[in-house]
Amino acid sequence: MSNAAHDRFAPSEEFAAQANATSALYGQADADREAFWAEQASRLHWDQKWGQVLDWSDAPYAKWFVDGTLNVAYNCADRHVEAGNGDRVAIHWEGEPGDSRAITYAELQREVSRTANALAELGVGAGDRVAIYLPMLPEAVFSMLACARLGAMHSVVFGGFSAEALRSRINDAEAKVVITADGQYRRGKAMPLKAGVDEAIAEAPSIQHVLVVQRTGIDVQWNDAHDKWWHDVVDRQPDTHTPQAFDSEHPLFILYTSGTTGKPKGILHTSGGYLTQAAYTHHTVFDLKPDTDVYWCTADIGWVTGHTYIVYGPLANGATQVIYEGTPNAPHEGRHWEIVQKYGVTIYYTAPTTIRTFMKWGAEIPAKYDLSSLRVLGSVGEPINPEAWIWYRKNIGSDRTPIVDTWWQTETGAIMISPLPGATAAKPGSAQTPLPGISAKVVDENGTDVGPGGGGLLVLDKPWPAMLRGIWGDDERYKDTYWSKFADLGFYFAGDGAKYDADGDMWLLGRVDDVMNVSGHRISTTEVESALVSHPNVAEAAVVGASDPTTGQGIVAFVILRGGVADEAGGETALAELRDHVSKEIGPIAKPRQIMVVPELPKTRSGKIMRRLLRDVAENREVGDVTTLADSSVMDLISQGLHTGA
Ligand code: WTA
Repeated sequence: MSNAAHDRFAPSEEFAAQANATSALYGQADADREAFWAEQASRLHWDQKWGQVLDWSDAPYAKWFVDGTLNVAYNCADRHVEAGNGDRVAIHWEGEPGDSRAITYAELQREVSRTANALAELGVGAGDRVAIYLPMLPEAVFSMLACARLGAMHSVVFGGFSAEALRSRINDAEAKVVITADGQYRRGKAMPLKAGVDEAIAEAPSIQHVLVVQRTGIDVQWNDAHDKWWHDVVDRQPDTHTPQAFDSEHPLFILYTSGTTGKPKGILHTSGGYLTQAAYTHHTVFDLKPDTDVYWCTADIGWVTGHTYIVYGPLANGATQVIYEGTPNAPHEGRHWEIVQKYGVTIYYTAPTTIRTFMKWGAEIPAKYDLSSLRVLGSVGEPINPEAWIWYRKNIGSDRTPIVDTWWQTETGAIMISPLPGATAAKPGSAQTPLPGISAKVVDENGTDVGPGGGGLLVLDKPWPAMLRGIWGDDERYKDTYWSKFADLGFYFAGDGAKYDADGDMWLLGRVDDVMNVSGHRISTTEVESALVSHPNVAEAAVVGASDPTTGQGIVAFVILRGGVADEAGGETALAELRDHVSKEIGPIAKPRQIMVVPELPKTRSGKIMRRLLRDVAENREVGDVTTLADSSVMDLISQGLHTGA
């Protein structure tokens, strides 16, 4: 680690003086946690106020703001209009080809109402599931809020996932409707999207309607039985809709994420607690001033960051934000900075992998733009290395802006560990301390706090409002995955390794399970292995995440080919075909960086693959201790006979 890791960056006095949150907030939250959260919940409009703040009697199933009722979409649109802010821009939408659209809160309310009326006409009601497979279009936001308005759950599936991944998610949730687009722009090209839906729903009997946004105008196959254009169905709807209040614990959405087995988990979130923590964290961590800030989170709505910090947090807070459809290098590598300059973006939230990509492209690119409007920078998705942190602050933040390194997960629903930009002397690379109202610890295998200087596992030892309320349709897996490791202590096990420094600040060290983090995307090793062995040429496969300078981790696969095909299939073309096969099964984000053909895989006597040893090979290190292998000569065989395809 460079010296960068030892630097401290305190906010300027000027920033600290105007900040939404001071360090007094920690003491206030500690003094009475529930009173603190009750105060945060008052940021929202409740149709009926809650009685009890937290009911944890049925742990690990929490109830927050018991008996309170609210409508989440009303909180994200209508109430801002009623407060006189209807003319405020909610969304500055910027299309990849350069088209743009400004949507005020009044328009947002009308668009969401129309969409809700349309979904109701298609038979969607409270408790139903709607799959959303859309690019970064305003319609994605309208769709999510329309579901919330009706009390239906959305299940957003990242547009980069394959038809197969979409199908399994639709079937798991038994979604009634899927909302998609004809195509999506990717680096200047219109790529098909609906085609993937056509393929997915051929084996998804629950789907009754496919609602299609026309974005690119590319040709699509049409099936009159279930396909409907958005502009035919939504545009003719009345633009008013009376929202109904739902229970605080009414389900809001399902979002699938990778676990340690091949089957993605449908993480379930509910309404009142989730929205409370989304609004609170967005206000305090980003220091949002809704009257003057222009906020931009570069995530895709297909991930939890997009849910909480594009849709629910910012819109609940009445923020003005930028939503950008495309990639950072379309049509040129200065696109993000051009957008910052165009809209006067003040708060910018992105992922370390993107920052490292900008570093690779060179500091002269952002230097060409006026970035002086920026005042807070954020990072999320993986540990940020101190070098990237320093580069970010210097080249994007004019050596002036606070940076908030925010740790959280799909399961936590909202930010849990982060500096407060106006109160914390930031340390590059450390997410530092749990937010006021949140409790987290680094513990050893027995659950004992390791104390300053120690390392171990990250746990959340007290329930929090935005916590997941289960895994869709799989209570056992919920308890098993998160609550069984420290069952006696009632700790939530996050799956991350962490350490404290001498000051007691937290440093997150990455996953300790078989989940990889590639460009901030969670992908399970088993998922990729299953995809590989579904190819007829592959007999066995083992996958590891090897460290990668840009993407954090890169996927490296070791495969044993089937007898007979081994010789011809060991060649480049055959390996390229395998990589494409994974891309088709899961999506391009899961494409292995490298595939190595091996004669054997290292296994313990009980048959468990020792990924640690394969990681040594993938990272070109000397292979570690092999004594627990069933056959200790396997590693020699692997090292000698490597066929590599990248
Ligand atoms: C990792 C994304 C270090 C971590 C919001 C976690 C981080 C997983 C950070 C969740 C951070 C996220 N520092 N690691 N600031 N933020 N992670 O569910 O391993 O896509 O468990 O949620 O990303 O990924 P997920």
